[in-house]
Order: sequence, then C-alpha cells, then structure tokens
Amino acid sequence: MSILVTGGAGFIGANFVLDWLVQSDETVINLDLLTYAGNRENLSSLGSDGRHVFVQGDIGDSSLVTQLLAKHQPRAIVNFAAESHVDRSIHGPEDFVQTNIVGTFRLLEAARGYWNSLQGDAKQGFRLLHVSTDEVYGSLGKDDTAFTETHRYEPNSPYSASKAASDHLVRAYHHTYGLPVLTTNCSNNYGPYQFPEKLIPLMIVNALAGKPLPVYGDGQQIRDWLYVKDHCSAIRRVLEAGKVGETYNIGGWNEKPNIEIVQLVCSLLDEFRPRADGQRYSEQITYVTDRPGHDRRYAIDASKIAVELGWKPAETFDTGIRKTLEWYLENQDWVAHVQSGSYRDWVEKNYAGRAA
Ligand code: NAD
Ligand code: DAU
Repeated sequence: MSILVTGGAGFIGANFVLDWLVQSDETVINLDLLTYAGNRENLSSLGSDGRHVFVQGDIGDSSLVTQLLAKHQPRAIVNFAAESHVDRSIHGPEDFVQTNIVGTFRLLEAARGYWNSLQGDAKQGFRLLHVSTDEVYGSLGKDDTAFTETHRYEPNSPYSASKAASDHLVRAYHHTYGLPVLTTNCSNNYGPYQFPEKLIPLMIVNALAGKPLPVYGDGQQIRDWLYVKDHCSAIRRVLEAGKVGETYNIGGWNEKPNIEIVQLVCSLLDEFRPRADGQRYSEQITYVTDRPGHDRRYAIDASKIAVELGWKPAETFDTGIRKTLEWYLENQDWVAHVQSGSYRDWVEKNYAGRAA
C-alpha cells in the first residue's frame, strides 16, 4: 500500500511525511516541485528509507501525475502542494494562480482518471485529501464567533482567493463526478522546518541575528496558532475516518495578537539564549508599514473534528512554542542553508522602504 503526498518537502508536508513513516509501513510517494519553499534537507533524517520515494515535479504536470498514479497505485492522495505565503502573493500572484488553481485542477483531473480505473475495494477506499486554510473564510471582527465549516467564503488576498478556488474545484469534483474527496481548513501552523519568511521563524532568526523584528501595522492582528504536528495528526485522522465530501476545520483554540507572539518569542529567547550585551530581544521590535489588505482576525471553531472524529491537539501553545524555539536553536545549520540568495532577495523586496 502507498499514499501520494504532494508538497512533501515543504514545512507541513515534510512534518507529515516524517510523522507518517513513524507510525505506518505504507510507502509515501512524495511529489514536490522544490520551489524556494521546498527543501529536501527537511527529509534528510529518512536517509535511504525505501518507504519514501521522492519525485521532483509539478502537480500541474498531468502526464507525470497520471504516470505516478498508474505505477504506484496509491490508496490516497494528500495535497499539500501550494504557494503558501500571503506577502509573496501580493508581490506576484501569478504563481499562486498557476499552482493553487491550475495545479489543483490538473491533479483532480489525473485523480479522477485514476479513480475511474480502479475497481472494488480499491475504488471504494480511495481518498483525495485537500489541505486548505482558514484564510478562505476572510477576516473576523473582534466579537465575531469563530469560523465554522459553514462560514461563507470571503478570501481577501491573492493567496486566499487561489486557495478558495482550489477548495471549490475539489468540492465540484465530488459533487459532479463523485470523486471521494476530503477538505481540511487549518489555522496558522508553527514548528520545525518552517521557512523563515513566516512570522514565528522570522522573529526567531532575526532576533538571533541582531536584526529588527518587523511587526506589521499596530501588531494587534489576531491569528489562531496550532503546532504543526497536531495539524498532521488531524489530517491522518480525517484521512482515516472523515466522511467523503465533507470539510473539517482544524485549529488549536489559541488566538493571539501578533505583538503578543513576538513578545513571547523575545522573552523565551531571553531565557534560552540571552543577548551577549545584556539587553532584551524585545528592544529589536520595529513597527513597519502594514500588509496591504491585512486580515484582522482569524479564529477556527474546531468542534466538528473533535466531536465527529475525536481529534484534539496534543500541544498547548506554551509547550509547542518552547519545542519550536529549541528546534531552531539546535538547527542553526538548517537555517543557514535555507538563507540562500533567493531568500535574501525576498527580504530585500518585502521589507525595503517599509519602515514606518
Ligand atoms: P510551504 O510553502 O512550506 O510548502 C509548499 C511545498 O509545495 C513546497 O515544498 C513546494 O516546493 C511545493 N510546491 C509548490 N508548488 C508546487 C507544485 N506546483 N507542484 C508540486 N509541489 C509544489 O507550505 P506549507 O506552509 O507547508 O503549507 C502546505 C499546505 O498547507 C498549503 O496548501 C497551505 O495552503 C496549507 N496551509 C498552511 C498553513 C500554514 O500555517 N503554513 C495553514 C493552513 C493551511
Ligand atoms: O491562517 C493560515 C495561514 O497562515 C496559511 O494559510 C498560510 O499559508 C500561512 O502563511 C499563514 O498566513 P499568515 O499571513 O497568517 O502568516 P504569516 O506568518 O505571514 O503572518 C502571520 C501574521 O504576522 C500576519 O498577521 C502578518 C504578521 N507579520 C508577518 C510577517 C512575515 C508581521 O507582523 N511581520 C512579518 O514580518
């Protein structure tokens, strides 16, 4: 038995593959284009484990995906592959349309052809799980209730619009063709192997390098944080027991304003790795011009997955953030390797002229 994972060299995909192979003997076929966000080093602990078959390629390459499905006959596809960074989608939306919309469409087409070729139990048991985000629901006001699965879609950035489009395609392939799909919409993840362009790893890496900690706008935007391994366990649970055609919200009931997250990272670093000059890391916090169209608040109501599938997160924010900081402190080589030329170009582009 095998599963096809797409985007399995990225942050969440790599954590998913590593966790999967700890608790299952099923082979993982890992299809990843290795964009700037894909990193084979994330999977280096697997060594030459024969249960992991890595293929560099595009989910939008119909013939490649069709060939992989025919050859490996996976019982499921888990689709992580995406352009995932909101700021990058503001600077250049085209890649988001290409991978998140066109790529997902081509993947669905290939999956439909493959599923139609299956028979009996193999056809019955096949699943395509599409990994999506809470951002498709738009932005909440201070007193609004958290997003449930029936909240209307109101995406506000090119990234969230492209993810919303992919969710709609997935839904349509079930409704129209009967393809056995599952969709998950998760809140902000943090943890090992997250590329340091996202809030938490960026703050850790900049703090240690003595650089400014750029907080957008007033820093009062609220995100709902989940440790990445809890996201992975939720996906495994939905794959195992989710009802075909349904969507499941995934979250940690853990809303925090950005400035609080940044302050917490600073105070934990003061504890774990005090600054040589005796100053506090919070001295490095710098308020900068806000992200255009910045969503004010996200919050996930994760009742459905808890009640129907019995899933709940294993980590609190306190335990998860400590593990994350320890991981980044112990893996400075990983950080140095991902800070390639293209990463430096990105930092230049996104933060130049932003000082408020
Ligand atoms: P990431 O940017 O770290 O990784 C994305 C991976 O997809 C990379 O390895 C990249 O090389 C690969 N990829 C990109 N385009 C591809 C293509 N055309 N074909 C094959 N591979 C391609 O992203 P992430 O943070 O790990 O997010 C994974 C998924 O989870 C995304 O679909 C994202 O929308 C969703 N999600 C992320 C979060 C979060 O907080 N990071 C929260 C909820 C949902
Ligand atoms: O909500 C789920 C989403 O979370 C995922 O779908 C996305 O793939 C993922 O990137 C993440 O999106 P965000 O835009 O919320 O994540 P990011 O880490 O970029 O930013 C988190 C918050 O921190 C956001 O309000 C913007 C703010 N921020 C971010 C950066 C990079 C800053 O204040 N300063 C920064 O330098």
